[in-house]
Amino acid sequence: MLSLFLLLLLSLGGEMASSADDGQFTYQGFAAANLTLDGLATVLPNGLLALTNFTYQTKGHAFHPVPLRFLNKPTSTNTTAVARSFSTSFVFAVVSRYDGLSDQGLAFVVTPTMNLSTANAGQYLGLLNATNGTASNRILAVELDTIMNPEFSDINSNHVGINVNSLMSRQAKPAGYYGDDDGAFRGLMLNSRKLMQVWVDYDGQGRQLNVTLAPIQVPKPRKPLLSEVIDLSTFMEDPMYVGFSSSSGVVFTHHYVLGWSFSLDGPSPPLHFSKLPTLPRVGPKPRSKLLDVVLPLATALLVAAVLVVVFFFVWRRHRYAEVREDWEDEFGPHRFAYKDLFCATDGFKDKNLLGAGGFGKVYKGVLPASSLEVAVKRVSHGSRQGVREFVAELVSIGRLRHRNLAQLLGYCRRKSELLLVYDYMENGSLDKYLYNKNGPSLNWQERYWVIKGIASSLLYLHEDWEQIVIHRDIKASNVLLDSQMNARLGDFGLARLYDHGMDGQTTHVVGTMGYLAPELLRTGKATPATDIFAFGVFLLEVVCGRRPVESEKHGNKMVLIDWVLEHHRNGSILDTVDPGLMGKFDIQEVTIVLKLGLLCAHPSPNTRPSARKVMQYLDRSRSVPNLSPTYISYSTLALMQNEGFDSYIMPCPLFAKSVHTVSGDSSVTVLLDGR
Ligand SMILES: *[C@@H]1O[C@H](CO)[C@@H](O)[C@H](O)[C@H]1NC(C)=O
Ligand SMILES: *[C@@H]1O[C@H](CO)[C@@H](O)[C@H](O)[C@H]1NC(C)=O
Ligand SMILES: *[C@@H]1O[C@H](CO)[C@@H](O)[C@H](O)[C@H]1NC(C)=O
Ligand SMILES: *[C@@H]1O[C@H](CO)[C@@H](O)[C@H](O)[C@H]1NC(C)=O
Ligand SMILES: *[C@@H]1O[C@H](CO)[C@@H](O)[C@H](O)[C@H]1NC(C)=O
Ligand SMILES: *[C@@H]1O[C@H](CO)[C@@H](O)[C@H](O)[C@H]1NC(C)=O
Ligand SMILES: *[C@@H]1O[C@H](CO)[C@@H](O)[C@H](O)[C@H]1NC(C)=O
Repeated sequence: MLSLFLLLLLSLGGEMASSADDGQFTYQGFAAANLTLDGLATVLPNGLLALTNFTYQTKGHAFHPVPLRFLNKPTSTNTTAVARSFSTSFVFAVVSRYDGLSDQGLAFVVTPTMNLSTANAGQYLGLLNATNGTASNRILAVELDTIMNPEFSDINSNHVGINVNSLMSRQAKPAGYYGDDDGAFRGLMLNSRKLMQVWVDYDGQGRQLNVTLAPIQVPKPRKPLLSEVIDLSTFMEDPMYVGFSSSSGVVFTHHYVLGWSFSLDGPSPPLHFSKLPTLPRVGPKPRSKLLDVVLPLATALLVAAVLVVVFFFVWRRHRYAEVREDWEDEFGPHRFAYKDLFCATDGFKDKNLLGAGGFGKVYKGVLPASSLEVAVKRVSHGSRQGVREFVAELVSIGRLRHRNLAQLLGYCRRKSELLLVYDYMENGSLDKYLYNKNGPSLNWQERYWVIKGIASSLLYLHEDWEQIVIHRDIKASNVLLDSQMNARLGDFGLARLYDHGMDGQTTHVVGTMGYLAPELLRTGKATPATDIFAFGVFLLEVVCGRRPVESEKHGNKMVLIDWVLEHHRNGSILDTVDPGLMGKFDIQEVTIVLKLGLLCAHPSPNTRPSARKVMQYLDRSRSVPNLSPTYISYSTLALMQNEGFDSYIMPCPLFAKSVHTVSGDSSVTVLLDGR
């Protein structure tokens, strides 16, 4: 019962390997085979026989475990032992990590013992050592040799040879086969990683050993590669083992056997390639057609992406380029990054434009980091000259603190541009409340509050701060209103600083036409008194709701000072009050402000009150002195006409005199070269 079971088991295993004492077996893969292995030889889980792996200078053997009888026993009729015919075929592959370079090779062997422990690895193929085989230690080998060893008279590094008791082949030929059709020789590379089949056939009667090699897809060629006459009866012992031997040297190589069949006294059973195990993949994955398309495409995309990134960074660098010099380090905290200002104002979009003044455009912005609302003024500056002083002054101005000053937060420099960052004022500039007849207006209390605020800021600038600050551009459009309608003097782009006790220097004349003190045009020297003059004009502006110079019909110009002065002389000064107030005002206050305006706008700078006195007059702690009857208005208009200014004059570049005409804008900025 048990033996039957065993038989069943054996016959089941025989699917893959059939082995019996009849000297015939077939291994379609070695998963179920009971091979005797030693050294590096191992059967992989998929049934692949790996004779070597990558271990340095080691050998590997695999034998069919059952010894075979190769000799016909002497009989009573014939006492001479005769070697039996046999036939074997196997499929192998030499897989190296490097193309065309592999280790020693492998061999089909017939030996009387499976104990080849004395054999050497490397070029000895695990078959022998430096000593040739002897009568007692015989070995028949068919070598598939991939290294040329001159010591063994190898013909090349890709040959098949028949060896008997020696590593020197009795016969060897380059690997290849003869085509059945034309008989031509076709070379094969043993280490090409391709599957190949070998047939070894021995004819006992004819004493002829044939070796045939072919690629796996080619049927057994009729003409063998090697055909050697050899009488194995003198060589064979009884019994003998059959198997494979291989050795590793230094090159990373696998020697694989995929299938093997053997038969005594007859042709070996054919191998079914579909049943053989597959080779593990070594080296680069074979490139698919898809890859041929995808790879160039991916490369092109990558190159394009890199270009885009590089372009983006260059563009960004250019777009956000700033000018920064060493001397600016001390102003570091006041310096804004252009990128931040660019982001804050949405790239200086028109929808964020608050206004355009004489020296540049003002944009509203929200700083990305602090979400602080700011006004950014872009001032173009053509010349590098004087920029250092200018920035130094700006930074000083940034230290001014007064509730009636629009805080200058900092600056940024670009190639031909300066950006000034101010606190943002919700209610905009005062001029739109004065001149925009359809827009919102201010009542007298609010106007008086604005006037006092600006007077107070002027006192701070002229007298109370550590240096004298001359604003140089006091006018209604530079007065901003915060959320509580407090007046704040802004736009310090033209401001000048002097130490107390020092005299103002002569510079080019800047300011706005109509607000320029007469002596400023003569001497080019900005002083607190010139600021007071402009403040005087500003006072008249606020009360009368008119611009300092207005064009009338017939091309005449109305100069506000002259007009108010005339009404003052005629005793009808209250007629100058803005009709927009609809008579709702404090007569005393209005009178004070108008008289003070005329006093401040007095042509003689010595007659003008100081900022402190102005404060006192407005607080009514001191009464405004009566204007002297000799007060003769210096007709700004006449001057302008003499000089030919009916134009808008601004610096571009700073030190050159240039003239632009802006029609319909009565706010006129003048800049003359004062030298
Ligand atoms: C090679 O085979 C030997 C013996 O089977 C084993 O110890 C070694 O880990 C193997 N090396 C590799 C790289 O597979
Ligand atoms: C495998 O072969 C060995 C001899 O090499 C033998 O002792 C053993 O019984 C065999 N095993 C099987 C399952 O055939
Ligand atoms: C014995 O067999 C061999 C080979 O088959 C043959 O050459 C020889 O003549 C035979 N000897 C006798 C005595 O028949
Ligand atoms: C193989 O032969 C050597 C002596 O040549 C011996 O020492 C060793 O034990 C043998 N190994 C086996 C497995 O029989
Ligand atoms: C070489 O092999 C032979 C057997 O073929 C053995 O007798 C001899 O000891 C071996 N020599 C060395 C140096 O291993
Ligand atoms: C081994 O055998 C070959 C002939 O097959 C012979 O030329 C060579 O000299 C022999 N080497 C040794 C060491 O006996
Ligand atoms: C060996 O090859 C020759 C042709 O070269 C052929 O005549 C002979 O039958 C072959 N022998 C065997 C055993 O295949």
